[in-house]
Amino acid sequence: MARVLCVLAVGLCVCVLAQVAAETLSRSAVLRAVSDAKKIIDDAYTYSRAETLRRVRTRKDLNPSDLLRLVKQPARETRSAVRAADYLEYTLQLLQDRHHIHKRSLNATDLISAEDLETIARLTGCAARVRQPNCKTTPHLNQYRTTTSVCNNRKFPRRGSSNTPFLRLLPAEYQDGVNLPQGWDPMLQRNGALLPLVRLVSNRILSTANEDVVSDNLYTHLITIFGQWTDHDLTFTPHSPSIRSFNSGTNCDESCLRTEPCFPIRIPPNDTRFGRNSDECIPFFRSAPACGTGNTGHIFGAANVREQLNSLTAFLDVGQVYGADEGLARDLRDLTTDSGLLRVNEGFNDSGRELLPFSPMKDMCASRGRITNDTNAEEVPCFIAGDERVDENIGLSSMHTMMMREHNRLARALAKLNPQWSGETLFQEARKIMGGYFQVITFRDYLRHIIGPDILNGPEIGPFPGYDENVDPSISNVFATAAFRFAHLAIQPFMFRLDENYQDHQKWPSVLFHRNFFTPWRLVFEGGIDPVIRGLVGRQAKLNVQDHMMHDELRERLFEFLGHVALDLAALNMQRGRDHGLPGYNSWRRFCGLSKPRTLEELAVVMNNTELARQLLELYGTVDNIDVWLGGVAEPFVNGGRVGPLFACIIARQFQRLRQGDRLWWENDDVFTEAQRESLQTTSLSRIMCDNTGITEVPENPFEFRPRGAGYTRCEDIPAFDLSPWRANGEDRQGHPGPPGPQGPAGPPGSNGAAARAAFAVRLGYNFPHPGKPIAFKNVIYNGQDLYNTKTGVFTCTQPGVYQFDFHCTLYQNVGNVDLRHNDKLVLHSFTTQQSGYVTATGGTILQLATGDTVYLSANYGGNGLTADSFFSGHILFSV
Ligand code: HEM
Repeated sequence: MARVLCVLAVGLCVCVLAQVAAETLSRSAVLRAVSDAKKIIDDAYTYSRAETLRRVRTRKDLNPSDLLRLVKQPARETRSAVRAADYLEYTLQLLQDRHHIHKRSLNATDLISAEDLETIARLTGCAARVRQPNCKTTPHLNQYRTTTSVCNNRKFPRRGSSNTPFLRLLPAEYQDGVNLPQGWDPMLQRNGALLPLVRLVSNRILSTANEDVVSDNLYTHLITIFGQWTDHDLTFTPHSPSIRSFNSGTNCDESCLRTEPCFPIRIPPNDTRFGRNSDECIPFFRSAPACGTGNTGHIFGAANVREQLNSLTAFLDVGQVYGADEGLARDLRDLTTDSGLLRVNEGFNDSGRELLPFSPMKDMCASRGRITNDTNAEEVPCFIAGDERVDENIGLSSMHTMMMREHNRLARALAKLNPQWSGETLFQEARKIMGGYFQVITFRDYLRHIIGPDILNGPEIGPFPGYDENVDPSISNVFATAAFRFAHLAIQPFMFRLDENYQDHQKWPSVLFHRNFFTPWRLVFEGGIDPVIRGLVGRQAKLNVQDHMMHDELRERLFEFLGHVALDLAALNMQRGRDHGLPGYNSWRRFCGLSKPRTLEELAVVMNNTELARQLLELYGTVDNIDVWLGGVAEPFVNGGRVGPLFACIIARQFQRLRQGDRLWWENDDVFTEAQRESLQTTSLSRIMCDNTGITEVPENPFEFRPRGAGYTRCEDIPAFDLSPWRANGEDRQGHPGPPGPQGPAGPPGSNGAAARAAFAVRLGYNFPHPGKPIAFKNVIYNGQDLYNTKTGVFTCTQPGVYQFDFHCTLYQNVGNVDLRHNDKLVLHSFTTQQSGYVTATGGTILQLATGDTVYLSANYGGNGLTADSFFSGHILFSV
């Protein structure tokens, strides 16, 4: 009923508007506008492509914003999606201009008949983009993911698929209510105050000299780059490919004019970098609109505001390895043999190990001569992988290389196990295992350190609740544009390179960050990926502290190697938030059920810092206007995490939705067999490193920083990933056991009775205990009689006697303790000591046990902060 009323109301409204304009636009006017818009957009695209190629080929006039634009350039399917949206948007703008529709309340679409609207949608290509696909004809839908994730959700087939709009958790707030960014007209107030220039905010709040960076005592630089790696599985917001304004023909990077798609970043007077040249701008290109949004929303019945596209799938499906676009996915595969492999570099290798293939374009990565000052240096093109940003830094490129190798390792091992499998099956099964790996590692090892154990176990995430087709997994706009950019403040100013002993590499020293952007040649000619991977796990992450937020490598020298105006990542993040119409800081605090600070005193409490609160208010005038990325990264960390409460909430909700809304999530029934799931749980980044590099010793948990010597393990001591559950039909290819052999010599004398039998020693391993519940130590050191159950964490006595139990646990918490319980009753509270952010909980006792008695450990709080090397042991002293 309510819906009918609504439709009537809309109908009435359109009627009234139509009367205001007296008539609807003629069909010929509409068709002319479509054809003119297409021509103007096509010209702008063609010009932009030719101009970009000219700049790359001649390497003249290239500048850092070209690089960002090229990286964010829509390719293949995304390009068609963006082009269609641009056609549609511009058609309506032409109609608006030509027919003098300047009333804010009146849109061109109000004056176009439903039939003409449909024609426009069809001619621009937008209709095809929203048509529902038919999932019935998709092969292997229950077994494997489609490349684009279309049909992951059978009821809403496009949910979570590539090239769909980001989800809005809160309505957008554009300056004109529909389309224009906040700050487009700098003299218009928002909530009663003018918005400060983003570069001014960056200078005043974020600026940090490289040498003032504080390192994180707990985490390695790998946790930062793993975050970027994960982001590149989940979000990519394309720009429009046009480098000049559709309206005026102005080149975005040559002018400070705000004209679609140019939204340049203005420089404040007396800027530390630009000085007197503050009339210059840092070029900025608006993110491309999605079809049927912004001025065109009416066409598809969508909300009438501009939306941005995510060209990647929303799922943790390792799209950065395989591509989220059919064409790219095909290009990445080695189809010359039927072996299920990914393509590798044909010209170069890394001490015999595979390197990524090169991009077919001669491109931006050819900077070796310029950076090394050696004009004779051999240049190489960029690497190509499932995500276009693969070359952004050599840490990220090394991750890509390692994961491509792991796919190929798996495909080869599966081929040995199942020689009857086709290349397609080998490829899809290896890809599926890789998907499982990353779902396990992200939830088990990564997220806990970012959003902290309390939130990970709280109502926002908690244990896996099972698949729900009504949960929309799409990535939210605020996640991509603000919250998951938190780690821009955890990047070190160096990309470290270490030798076999985890010491600074003498031959290939660490490089300043701005000298490692888009430099695949460093992996080809400078010792490969091993020194870089060691640098990631052997050195600390940067710590985001309120007075040392973003160092100069990212604020003053982003992509500087191309000369001219280097970019400022902090300013880009805030300008992007305004471009996307993100609501301000306080709206998001309210969304997450957090307090809404209004005064200096209240903000000082939230930030736990009066000086910072004062600076923020001085810049913004009101807390409501603080750019959400800035407000989020300025908050103090939640317990055990590396983000404040606001971003913890947004990140937690995102990961919960992309898990619960994923029909092919690894823990769902019928995705993997139980034995396969068991295997997947033992995966670790350490094992993957050991299997795919020349590194022989690794930290057991590579996200947790340990000085060399403690917590490192030899590769041969890490169990290999068990692929046997992937043997088809459980066939035993080793054949039948032979006849019994001759009797061997007598063994050593046995001990008498049960005394020697009842014993166990276990380590926590990569497990994720729940506070208050028995802690299941998964890694068995000794458990000869299986009396300790590694699934439940409970030791059960079968031999009455007197037993001794000992434990030693380390917790990444400020507080925490561990209890030893006998038949659920507390027997012993651990002895705890605290040192630099860790709690050590130890204990030991002697107990008399009867048959069936149980003993286990539990942690009342801080349980999920336990480190992998925590251990528990018990053995019988004598029988009674
Ligand atoms: C390691 C060096 C890194 C560099 C140089 C870098 C640089 C950039 C740049 C230039 C953008 C586009 C800015 C814009 O125009 O809006 C961006 C976007 C982004 N970055 Fe980073 N980033 C790095 C690491 C990270 C890390 C560690 C994370 C997260 C853990 C991250 C998360 C993101 C996200 C979510 C986006 C938005 C992506 C999109 O939807 O297109 N980045 N980054």
